[in-house]
Amino acid sequence: MSKKQKKVDDSTEMSDGELVESHIALSEEKHPPTVGFLQAPLIFVFVFGCLVFVCSIQLAETTNEFRLHPKKETVELTPEQMEERRFERKIDSGKKLFTTNCSSCHQANGMGLAGQFPPLAGSKWATSDPGLIVNIILKGLKGPIVVKGETYGQALNMAALDLKDRQIADITTYVRQAWGNQASEITDEEVSGFRAESTNKVDQWTGEQLRSMYPSSFSDE
Ligand code: HEC
Repeated sequence: MSKKQKKVDDSTEMSDGELVESHIALSEEKHPPTVGFLQAPLIFVFVFGCLVFVCSIQLAETTNEFRLHPKKETVELTPEQMEERRFERKIDSGKKLFTTNCSSCHQANGMGLAGQFPPLAGSKWATSDPGLIVNIILKGLKGPIVVKGETYGQALNMAALDLKDRQIADITTYVRQAWGNQASEITDEEVSGFRAESTNKVDQWTGEQLRSMYPSSFSDE
């Protein structure tokens, strides 16, 4: 058996040179020469490379120099823009505070309820001297007053509201600018001034007391 095997091997034995040549021939058959084909993929590689290059430059330009946590952009605001933003925030805050503290009676549209709650839209009490509206909130108001020709305060009074100076400043400024009202802003400092002046007052204001304190607000009546 092993003898026969040996014989077969002997008959197919090749010299080294023949072996190499037959391998070359075989490999040429399997992998035909690629001389002409090489250029096409090279062009693609080149074009793709250019694309990556251009894209990365574009990306670097538009994405804060590839920083993972880019610095927050500091927008330079002009003094006017800063003032505008401050005022917008104040009005927003005033509107929210008005909704929670005042709108149940004076209504969200500032029109009040006929015969019960006086309107704030177009009211002299709200839009003339800052002292009037601020004092009303600080101490409350009782007894009859006339608002836009109607008399209020015979059945219902307004209690003092426990609010901070800044909150009162925000609410009153909102009221004086909303629903077509066009009165001046009221500052926190003004409110603290009025608070200091009325520390000794224990009960609510009456309409008459306030009218005599701010006569010029009612001079055209
Ligand atoms: C519980 C109901 C009620 C609430 C809440 C209330 N008010 Fe009044 N307010 C009244 C009544 C009633 C009067 C009239 C009082 C009077 O004539 O004695 C009045 C009067 C006024 C007046 C003077 C009259 C006018 O219409 O201009 C102003 C200003 C005013 N309130 C502002 C406010 C503001 C601002 C708030 C919220 C911070 C507020 N009120 C919350 C019931 C209320």
